[in-house]
Amino acid sequence: MPKILILGANGQLARNTTEFFLKHPVVQLTLYLRRANRLKNPDPSRVTIVEGDVLDVETLKGAMQGQDVVYANLAGSMEQQAKTIVNAMHATGLKRLIFISSMGIYGEVPGERYRSILDPYRDSAAVIEASDLDYTILRPGWFTHDEEINYQITQKGEPFKGHDVSLNSLSDLIVKLALSPGMEVRRSLGVSRAG
Ligand SMILES: NC(=O)c1ccc[n+]([C@@H]2O[C@H](COP(=O)([O-])OP(=O)(O)OC[C@H]3O[C@@H](n4cnc5c(N)ncnc54)[C@H](OP(=O)(O)O)[C@@H]3O)[C@@H](O)[C@H]2O)c1
Repeated sequence: MPKILILGANGQLARNTTEFFLKHPVVQLTLYLRRANRLKNPDPSRVTIVEGDVLDVETLKGAMQGQDVVYANLAGSMEQQAKTIVNAMHATGLKRLIFISSMGIYGEVPGERYRSILDPYRDSAAVIEASDLDYTILRPGWFTHDEEINYQITQKGEPFKGHDVSLNSLSDLIVKLALSPGMEVRRSLGVSRAG
């Protein structure tokens, strides 16, 4: 039974991805969020809800005990969040991290210059890339609510293709990454709608 910890579980993409995870009967989820009364437990037989701030390292370490994968879906002070996550994963012996960032952090989007607005994404990605974790950083384009699952991946060092991607495409990829040991480990992936 793979055990997945979702940080920032009330985020738009995290909620969409929770539904995708629950289509897999073997998965157990821990949903970690601030003000937990905002979220209804979708399946108490295999979902645990933990109230906590990612910057609260003791609560975070408690939630990490016994997990297989950490999926971070955060915003705000992301560099500090990334440092706290890396330290807590070291302390609890976890290795696998999927971290949602944004397109543009390496200046890889042709014709676009996202400057300081992307600093938290850039700085947090740098923290994770400097760690020894089995990370996969995702750099999505703009989210859409299209039902379709249709995406292409660009690796770090390649120009980003396209500019948007459906939430469902991202959720599909996140679940595959979480459930496929070794998939795209220590990589930073641009993700956008194909074609
Ligand atoms: N929308 C787009 O087109 C797009 C494109 C590329 C990348 N992204 C980025 O992808 C990421 C995920 O997107 P999203 O739409 O799911 O974002 P979201 O709805 O803003 O979710 C981010 C979550 O992070 C949580 N969070 C922030 N600081 C926290 C902390 N210290 N402890 C615990 N939780 C914390 C927030 O919790 P609270 O609810 O408690 O505030 C929120 O639920 C975001 O960083 C977003 O900017 C978005």
